[in-house]
Amino acid sequence: MKNEHKGLAGIVAGRTAISTVEATGSGLFYRGYSINDLAEHASFEAVAYLLIHGALPNEIELGHYRQKLQSLREIPGALKLMLEHIPSAAHPMDLLRTGCSMLGTLEPETKDNPAEEIADRLLACFGSMLLYWYHFHRSGKRIHVTNDEESIAGHFLHLLHNRQPHGEEQRAIDVSLILYAEHEFNASTFTARVTTSTRSDFYSAICSAIGTLRGPLHGGANEAAMELLNRFKDADGAEHGIMKMLEEHQLVMGFGHRVYKQGDPRSSIIKAWSKKLADHHNGSTLFEISERIEQVVMREKNMYPNLDFYSASAYHYCGIPTSLFTPIFVIARTSGWAAHIIEQRRDNRLIRPTAEYTGPAPRPFPNNEGIQ
Ligand code: COA
Repeated sequence: MKNEHKGLAGIVAGRTAISTVEATGSGLFYRGYSINDLAEHASFEAVAYLLIHGALPNEIELGHYRQKLQSLREIPGALKLMLEHIPSAAHPMDLLRTGCSMLGTLEPETKDNPAEEIADRLLACFGSMLLYWYHFHRSGKRIHVTNDEESIAGHFLHLLHNRQPHGEEQRAIDVSLILYAEHEFNASTFTARVTTSTRSDFYSAICSAIGTLRGPLHGGANEAAMELLNRFKDADGAEHGIMKMLEEHQLVMGFGHRVYKQGDPRSSIIKAWSKKLADHHNGSTLFEISERIEQVVMREKNMYPNLDFYSASAYHYCGIPTSLFTPIFVIARTSGWAAHIIEQRRDNRLIRPTAEYTGPAPRPFPNNEGIQ
C-alpha cells in the first residue's frame, strides 16, 4: 500500500447517494442540497427527515414528524435505573454508548420496530438519556425528560438549563445539528457501515459509531478545542501559546481535515453563529481568542479551522458544559449514521479489506522449547 493511502486516504471504499463533498473540498451536499441552504432555510428535523426518510418533508409532513419525535422523548424506567448506576465521573459519550445498548435490549430491532423507527427513537431520546443522567448525578434530581419544546435543540437546552431556551441559542444549536448531521464516509459512519455489513442489528452499528466518534481526531475534537481555548486569557496569550505548540509539533485541535484542504465549508457558518452569540452575551474574549488562533494557524501552517473549532465557543456561549459537546454531535450524526445503515443494507456485501503483510516470513515452530 502506498504511504499516501495510509488511513485509507483517497481510497473510494463504497458508493453512497446520501451526501458528497465537492472535489475541491469547498462544498458539502446532503442528497443534493447545499449545506449553506440547509443551514439557512431548514430545521434539523427537516434535515433528519431528508437523511433518514429520503426526501425533504413538506410542511404537513414536517409537522407530523416533529410531533412524532416529541412523542418519543420519554425513556423506560429500566433505562433510567441503569443511568443512575453509571458513575458520575463517566464520560457522557460512554453513557450514550451504554444507553443505546440498553435500549437495544428493551426495544430490540424487529420487523415491527425497524431501522427507521429506531433512528427516530434515538434522535428523540438521546438528549433525554444524557440530561437525566447529568442532573441525577449533579443534584440528585430525577428530572422529567419530556417538555413542550418543538425542536430537538429546544428540548436539549430546556432540559439542560431547566428553562425555556433563548431563541438565538436554540437556532444556533439547531444549525449546529444540521452541520454535524452527515459527512459521507467519515470514520464513525464507516464504522457503522462495517458493523451493518456483517448483518448485525441497528443498535450495534450505532454503538460502534459512538465509540469511534468519541476520539479526539474525530468528534472529540470539539471538546479538545474548548480545552485549548480555556488555556488562554486573551488573544495575545493565545498567539504565544499556539506558536509554542507549533514549535513543539503539537496538534492544534479543531484544525485540519482529511478531505477539506482549502477550508471546511461548515466552519464559516458556525463561526458566524459564534460571533452572534458572543455579541449577544457581551462576551467577546473567547471569540477574539478563537479568531487569533485561526489567524496564527493559517499564517504558520496554512491550515483552516474545521467545524469543531468554532462549535466549541458557540456551545460555550450557550452555557453547555464541555463534556456534553461530543454527545450533541452524536444526536446530530445519528441521522447520518441511520441513513448509511439503511443504504448499506439495501446493497450489502461484507466489508472486509485485505492487508499488506509486513511480519516475518514463514518459519519453523520452536518445538524444543516448552511453552504450554
Ligand atoms: N495541528 C497541527 N498540525 C497539524 C494538524 C493540526 N490540527 N493537522 C494536521 N497537521 C499536520 C500533521 O502533523 C502533518 O504534518 P507533517 O506532514 O509534518 O507530519 C500534516 O499537517 C498533514 O496532516 P495529516 O496527519 O496527514 O492529516 P490527516 O488527513 O491524516 O488528519 C486530522 C486529519 C483531522 C486527523 C488532523 O488534521 C488532526 O489531527 N486535526 C486535529 C483534530 C481535529 O480537529 N479533528 C477533527 C476533524 S473534523
